[in-house]
Formats: sequence, C-alpha cells, structure tokens
Amino acid sequence: MLVAQISDTHILAPDPDLPAASLRADCLRRCVADINCQEPDAVLLTGDTVQHGRADEYALLQRLLSPLAAPFFPVPGNRDDKQVLRAAFTERRFLAEGGEFLHYAIDDYDVRLVGIDSTLSGERKGRFCEARQAWLEATLDARPDMPTLLFIHHPPFDVDDHYVGGYRIPGEAAALEAIVRRRPQVVGMLCGHVHWSVSRAWAGTEACIMPSVAVDLRKGIDETEARGRPVYMLHRVSRGKGLVSEARMVEA
Ligand SMILES: [Fe+2]
Repeated sequence: MLVAQISDTHILAPDPDLPAASLRADCLRRCVADINCQEPDAVLLTGDTVQHGRADEYALLQRLLSPLAAPFFPVPGNRDDKQVLRAAFTERRFLAEGGEFLHYAIDDYDVRLVGIDSTLSGERKGRFCEARQAWLEATLDARPDMPTLLFIHHPPFDVDDHYVGGYRIPGEAAALEAIVRRRPQVVGMLCGHVHWSVSRAWAGTEACIMPSVAVDLRKGIDETEARGRPVYMLHRVSRGKGLVSEARMVEA
C-alpha cells in the first residue's frame, strides 16, 4: 500500500496583507498536485491543518484538498478545532461517527489505518487519556492479524532538546508506547507537530515525524537546497517489509 502524508499545513484565511497566507496555500496546492502524480492509495493528514481553527481557514483547506484523487484522512493537531474540522468535512463519514475524540480506524485497504486524536481544546501539548487508551487497545485487538499503520499529531517521545515532554500528563506517552509494544501488527506510526524530519525505532516498530508542509515554519532542512520547496512523505507499507519512507520535495 502506498500512503502519502501531509502535516502542519497551518493554512490561513486569504489575506493580501499576510504573505504567509498565500505562501502556505501554495505549499499545499503544490503538494496535492505532486501527490496526484504518485497515485497513492490514501493520504494522511497529521494535524495542524489550519492555523487558528477557523471556518474560513477550513473552507480554504477544503478547496485546496479537493483536487486529491485519493481519499484523505485527517487527525487534529493542537491548532485544529475538532468541531469546525468535522463540519468542514461532513461528507467524510468516519469523521462524523466519533464523539469527544476525532479518532477512527479505516478497514478499506490491505493495511489498516488507525488515526489517533492526541488533542484537547486549548492545550498545546499532547493528551492520551485513559478513555483514548481503552479505545486504542480495543481497536487494535479487534483485528490483531491486520498490519496496521498508526497516525497521530503529537509524537509520544522526545526529540533531542527541541521537543521534550510533549504530553501534558506524565505517563500518557509511555502508556501509548506500552499499548503499541504489545501489538506486533503495528507496522509504524506517523507523526507531525515538530515541523522537522525525524525517524526512530519506537515501541518495537518505527516512528516517523515529517517536516511541516508550510515552508515558513519548517525546521531542520538545509534551506540552500530546499528553499521554498514544500516536502511531503511517501510511505510504502506492507505486512512483510513494514514501513519504507521517502521524503518527496516538490519541484521548484
Ligand atoms: Fe504545527
């Protein structure tokens, strides 16, 4: 299965006095065009889709995503407003089904996709409370033989001294790690939030953080080579080979 990942697009409502607004829209537009050329089976959005959680931002996001040929699956970031996001994508049935949390499992492919909600309104850091822990355990235990790809906004581990203690409540990131470690069907976890590219072994599988699609917020990429060129990820996911990831830089 081929999965494209987009993260941290931080879309702003159109504003002629705000250069970042057109820049970020252009980054996403160019990624969407390039993704269509790669013909992935699905596109995962790992949060911070918009900057302020406003309806006019989601309206633009919707327009920018509409050319995508493949189905897309968002999880919220700390910048998103779950209710406004849901309202913007009412035709996406899996988004409407949940209650307090915007999490879901997709069983349409050879690899199961499980989106995890790590957000709480007004909180910048991640949350993975007991209710979410119970949901993830039950969800994974429902189909233990299916290779499963997880995606979430907040990485449940530190990244050097740049991203430390990313979860508000001590022990919640460790709880997520423990749940995944006991379930070998998980082939990987895709994350956002940190705005730079990090891959590591985690919980007996692999975790991958992708850089922000918004180039003005991106960290850790050589700007002399990459300046102005948005990056997204392509992940090949399979039962035998696990997760094989490639950063794809959109043409200048
Ligand atoms: Fe972000």
